[in-house]
Amino acid sequence: MRHLDAELVGFRTQFLGQVGDWDGAAFTEFDLNDLAPTDSSMLVDGYQALAIAFEKRILEFNDHPNSEAYSSVVSGCISCHQKACPGPLERIAKRELP
Ligand code: HEC
Repeated sequence: MRHLDAELVGFRTQFLGQVGDWDGAAFTEFDLNDLAPTDSSMLVDGYQALAIAFEKRILEFNDHPNSEAYSSVVSGCISCHQKACPGPLERIAKRELP
């Protein structure tokens, strides 16, 4: 999860900085269903559906990296975190594009 967050920061910085585009940006694909939540109450109903929907957003970004696909990934982070683990929401909000 931390590496996903680091990738978001990297792509966002690339886009907003001197490079100004999304060239070469691609998330490392991994299976969120393999994630072992520290607290099993995090395995809320619908977790798997959220994980599958999120993976689709990742694949779409990797196929066509652009601002819209990036924002769709960030809202995927938010949807799952609102349900499963609200702690990092404040941090994730900072990944939105200005
Ligand atoms: C399908 C659900 C889901 C999605 C989507 C998701 N997360 Fe998480 N995330 C979790 C769960 C569950 C935990 C808690 C894991 C644990 O406690 O082991 C977590 C933990 C975290 C943490 C704190 C723990 C750590 O490893 O530092 C951060 C930060 C985080 N997520 C950021 C993100 C970002 C950024 C995205 C989008 C790129 C994202 N998450 C997408 C479910 C999700």
